[in-house]
Amino acid sequence: MTAANQRFRVAIVGCGIGRSHIVEGYEPNADKFEVKALCDLNVERMTPIADEFGIERRVTNFDDLLAMDDIDIIDVCTPPGLHYPMVMAALDAGKHVVCEKPLVGSLAEVDEVIAREKVSKGLLMPVFQYRFGDGIEQAKAIIDAGIAGKPYVGTVETLWTRGPDYYAVPWRGKWKTELGGVLMTHAIHQHDLFTYLMGDIKRLFGRVATRVNTIEVEDCVTASLELENGALGSFTATLGSADEITRIRLAFENVSFESDHAPYNPGAKPWKILPRSPETAERIAALLENWQHVPPRFTTQMARFHAALLGKAPLPVTSADSRRALELVTAFYHSSTTHEDVELPIGPGHARYKSWVPAEFA
Ligand SMILES: NC(=O)c1ccc[n+]([C@@H]2O[C@H](COP(=O)([O-])OP(=O)(O)OC[C@H]3O[C@@H](n4cnc5c(N)ncnc54)[C@H](O)[C@@H]3O)[C@@H](O)[C@H]2O)c1
Repeated sequence: MTAANQRFRVAIVGCGIGRSHIVEGYEPNADKFEVKALCDLNVERMTPIADEFGIERRVTNFDDLLAMDDIDIIDVCTPPGLHYPMVMAALDAGKHVVCEKPLVGSLAEVDEVIAREKVSKGLLMPVFQYRFGDGIEQAKAIIDAGIAGKPYVGTVETLWTRGPDYYAVPWRGKWKTELGGVLMTHAIHQHDLFTYLMGDIKRLFGRVATRVNTIEVEDCVTASLELENGALGSFTATLGSADEITRIRLAFENVSFESDHAPYNPGAKPWKILPRSPETAERIAALLENWQHVPPRFTTQMARFHAALLGKAPLPVTSADSRRALELVTAFYHSSTTHEDVELPIGPGHARYKSWVPAEFA
């Protein structure tokens, strides 16, 4: 088999969102990946998924995956508190690694992962699947081509619904195992899209509240942000909305963008693109004239991962992207307890560098 058509062999640990990685990520890219092994502590959950996709190897002990010489990629889909040890062990075993969000549980851990990645044989790709699809990628292309001009302001709304059934899963709703609430678990995707399109954050003021569910972590948040480039932003997220929408609205000098409102797939459908002049409209039309459809979410993230594994393209999502997302989370939680603006970047000297989890829950 030549390198150009190498089919990478995958083992997935965690059969919740792990199933979506198979359905949306690996099956549509079956020429690029083969899922050879599944791991889950819960055999009743793992078995039907393994049967459904004809995956012969099923194990309950993560270390068994590390020992499989014919596995190229370990895909970590376990609850957040387990990501750090699993990612480090998989890198140490010489595997490539895919890891669900949040990559790890602190900036200290993410910096350790980044350092380990540099001396490891394998590549590490965190998951941020909302970055892929026609809508988000057309907006990104217009911005990167310099057509949109100066960023002015942006709003991000994550208006979702979660109730007692969702929080019946024991690891959810608790600081120790979920590591955060709507900010860390749900809005992290949309906030990543905001910084991806608008730029790095300079400072933010964040508020959090727990008003919807009886849980330790927050389920309502708002923030006011200032970016390095001078633009401003505001975030609102709740798990108590009557219906579910995701809405990202960005005003640039020459163009305003509004995302599609599909809560879990805002990047797929074309976004509302509002040029402020006929000249800008013409430039956008020329740029998008031969647009090739981009399948959304895991389908494209995994396809581009394959290109990166072959050395043909950069990783579509990097550990640096995860660090930026976790820096935002750290600053947000810190601001919400100090009731002060928090400046970024956040490094080892910061009080929350080793953990954003409140001391009483750590
Ligand atoms: N990208 C997204 O849109 C998205 C969506 C949902 C969840 N997630 C993330 O995916 C991760 C998993 O979430 P989920 O909703 O699938 O959770 P889940 O509870 O539905 O599934 C996790 C699975 O991991 C298994 N597991 C736990 N500890 C294990 C261990 N030590 N060894 C092997 N298996 C173990 C559990 O038995 C369970 O089946 C979380 O980090 C979550 O934030 C991401």
